[in-house]
Amino acid sequence: MFANPKTLARKGVLGMNKRNIDFIGKYNPRHLYKLVDDKLMTKQLALKNDIATPGLIGVIRQQPEISGLPDMVKGKKGFVIKPAQGSGGKGILVITHVEDGRFYKPSGDEVTPSEMDRHCSNVLSGLFTLGGKTDVAVVEDLIQFDPVFDGYSFEGVPDIRLIVFKGYPIMGMLRLSTHASDGKANLHQGAVGVGLDLVTGKGLHAVQYDRPIDLHPDTGKKLTDIQVPHWDRLMTTAAGCYEMSGLGYLGTDMVLDVEHGPQLLELNARPGLAIQTANARGILPRLKQIQSLGDVPVPVEERIAYVKKHFNPDSGI
Ligand SMILES: Nc1ncnc2c1ncn2[C@@H]1O[C@H](COP(=O)(O)OP(=O)(O)O)[C@@H](O)[C@H]1O
Ligand SMILES: [Mg+2]
Repeated sequence: MFANPKTLARKGVLGMNKRNIDFIGKYNPRHLYKLVDDKLMTKQLALKNDIATPGLIGVIRQQPEISGLPDMVKGKKGFVIKPAQGSGGKGILVITHVEDGRFYKPSGDEVTPSEMDRHCSNVLSGLFTLGGKTDVAVVEDLIQFDPVFDGYSFEGVPDIRLIVFKGYPIMGMLRLSTHASDGKANLHQGAVGVGLDLVTGKGLHAVQYDRPIDLHPDTGKKLTDIQVPHWDRLMTTAAGCYEMSGLGYLGTDMVLDVEHGPQLLELNARPGLAIQTANARGILPRLKQIQSLGDVPVPVEERIAYVKKHFNPDSGI
C-alpha cells in the first residue's frame, strides 16, 4: 500500500498535492481559516453553536492583565492556559491541582507564581505562535479525561480525529500516546493511530510509524478491541462543525470528558493524511462519493445515516 505514487493513487490514497489543490483549496475559503487557526475564535463559535467544548474561564490579552490570573481561576480545581494561535501542544500549561493559591502540574510539580507570570508573558509575546506574532492566552476548564482508554494510552490523553467533508464525517481515528511519543498524541512523534468503524466506533486497524501493529507498544493491550464510547454524539458533533465553520474539508479533534462526554478541542483546516494509514484505506473514493451527491443541503442525522450505510467495513470503500 505504501509503495510508489501510482500504486497509492490506484488504492484511492489521497496525496498531499491533491489534498491541497482539489480539497483544501476548493472547499476551504481562505478568509475562514482564522476561525480555526485561533482557538479563542473556535471556542466562541462552538459556544454559540451549542457544540460542547471546555468552558472559557477567561482571556489574558495584555501584560498588565497577567496579575489578575489568581482571581480569574479562584475556586477552580484545575485549568489550562494555552496560546490562542499555538499548535503542536506548544505553550500549553495544564494545572490539575490548586491548593492554598498554589498551582500544581499533572506531575505534581509546583508552578510558582513567578513561573506562571513568565509563562503567560511568553504566550503574549508570541513565543509559541507560528511566525512569532503576539498572541493572547486562553484560560479554560480542565478536561477530566474519561478513563475508558486507561491501558490503551501511555502517559497522555487520547483524542478522536474525524475528517468531515461537506458535513459528512467520512473517516475516523483514535490517537493514543506512547512512551515514544512522550505523552503526545502526534503520529509523527510515535503515537499509535487506530482506524475506527464509522458505524460503531470500534477499532479496525492500527499503526505506529506508518506500520501495522496489533498491540499497544507499552501496555500490550489489543488495539482492535477498542470501543470508543459516545460514538453517535462524536459523529454528530463533528458533522455540526461544518455548518459552524463553513469549512468543507475539516479535521475535528475531540476528547472525552468523564462527566460531560465528547468535547471539541480544536479544528484543523489542513488535516494530515496519516488517517488513511491508520484505516488501511484511501480516503479518495469516499471524497468522490460525497462530491457526487451534489450541493443540496442535507440535515446532520441524514448525513450520518448515509455515512454509516456507505462507508463501513463491509461496503468496499
Ligand atoms: N482543557 C484541557 N484540559 C486538559 N488537557 C488539555 C486541555 N486542552 C488541551 N489539553 C492537552 O493539550 C493537548 C493539545 O491541545 P490542543 O488544544 O489540541 O492544542 P494544539 O493545537 O497545540 O494541539 C491536548 O491533546 C491535551 O492533551
Ligand atoms: Mg491538538
